[in-house]
Amino acid sequence: MDNFTFHNPTRIHFGKGQIEKVGSEIPASATVLLLAGGGSIKANGVYDQVTAALAGRTVHEHWGVEANPDFDTLLPAVELCRTEKIDWVLAVGGGSVLDGAKFVCAAVNYEGDPWQILQDQGASVTSALPLGTVLTLPATGSEANGASVISRRKHKAKLHFISPLVYPRFSILDPETTFTLPPRQIANGIGDAFCHVVEQYLTFPARAAVQDEFAESILRVLIKEGPQTLAHPTDYDARANLVWGATCALQGMIGVGVPQDWSTHMIGHELTALHGIDHARTLAIVLPALLEAQRGTKSGKLLQYAERVWGISIGDDESRITAAIEKTREFYEAIGIPTRLHDYDVSADVAPQVAARLAARGMTAIGEHQDLTPDRIEAILRAAA
Ligand code: NZQ
Ligand code: ZN
Repeated sequence: MDNFTFHNPTRIHFGKGQIEKVGSEIPASATVLLLAGGGSIKANGVYDQVTAALAGRTVHEHWGVEANPDFDTLLPAVELCRTEKIDWVLAVGGGSVLDGAKFVCAAVNYEGDPWQILQDQGASVTSALPLGTVLTLPATGSEANGASVISRRKHKAKLHFISPLVYPRFSILDPETTFTLPPRQIANGIGDAFCHVVEQYLTFPARAAVQDEFAESILRVLIKEGPQTLAHPTDYDARANLVWGATCALQGMIGVGVPQDWSTHMIGHELTALHGIDHARTLAIVLPALLEAQRGTKSGKLLQYAERVWGISIGDDESRITAAIEKTREFYEAIGIPTRLHDYDVSADVAPQVAARLAARGMTAIGEHQDLTPDRIEAILRAAA
């Protein structure tokens, strides 16, 4: 296990009725920016609960943060923070609203063009407004991490930044707020969280027993509770387990001291940038093909994954690995996420395009062994056609 320093400063309030805690988390004297998406929080009553909890404070609102939040949608919110002297931001919605809010918090006092924040992946961020979140979609882990992914449709770009300064100060996770999610978004959340765990776990053995067994338990929970919550959307306990599982998948604990491989996400982001495919769906396209391409270097972990996550213990090494990759594909398909490019009307021509775009940003050797070169990335996407 490698050395590590772990600090996650986000206070989580989990469970029914917890939105009222917004009132004790944000100072009574604060001037608040409430950031929201397209209106789901009005339809499901979350907005009313939030405004009740914020009573007495000066609150400005910025709506319309879209899925895959766009730089150009967020700039007016940055300006609003400056003109209204906002001193707290409250994000209410899914990962896109939370990510958008992180960008706004980092951009308010940023000198120069804030697109630079994305270009240097957060290295130049030196301050950020305090952020609180009310999460309504379990998926990204954004509620308890320092990452944000911002798109710029004008440039066909989707880039991320990471900064310890944008961890939410607090996050409210009330599973009941997620009951109104349409099946497609529930499935996207399950599929995204699953991939987050896989990318921190399925590399090579590092004798990190706590991280491995925690990761495996999250995967098993997603496999069990994901379909359960899709079939019974108001089953509180199933949903609560999905919400907490998705948070635990990307709040840092399972990734400390171990090799990681975020190449599925890096390739997937390009598919969203080029074709607008939902984030989780891009992962479902890339992951099985990537595991197949890397079955040699990932064999130790693939065999462990086969046995401990899928209960596959019969057959020789190669057939157990094949079965584990097939189970992964079947899992995505079973929750309603197709796993082939052609399912999204995208041809294999996208393969060299994605490889070239990553190469242009210096990503010519990704993966835990830096062995995914442009030609191999192209081959993975061709295999995913
Ligand atoms: O905009 P509204 O009206 O709120 O509707 C949203 C949106 O249309 C809707 N929704 C959210 N909560 C709802 C609801 N509808 C009904 N009831 C509710 N309770 O769901 C739609 C999708 O929302 P979005 O926030 O886009 O989804 P998600 O949470 O999956 O976020 C995806 C974004 O997060 C990024 C992705 O790249 C993508 O841009 N990621 C962020 C990460 C991070 N910060 O650590 C890591 C991830 O890997 C990921 O890249
Ligand atoms: Zn993701």
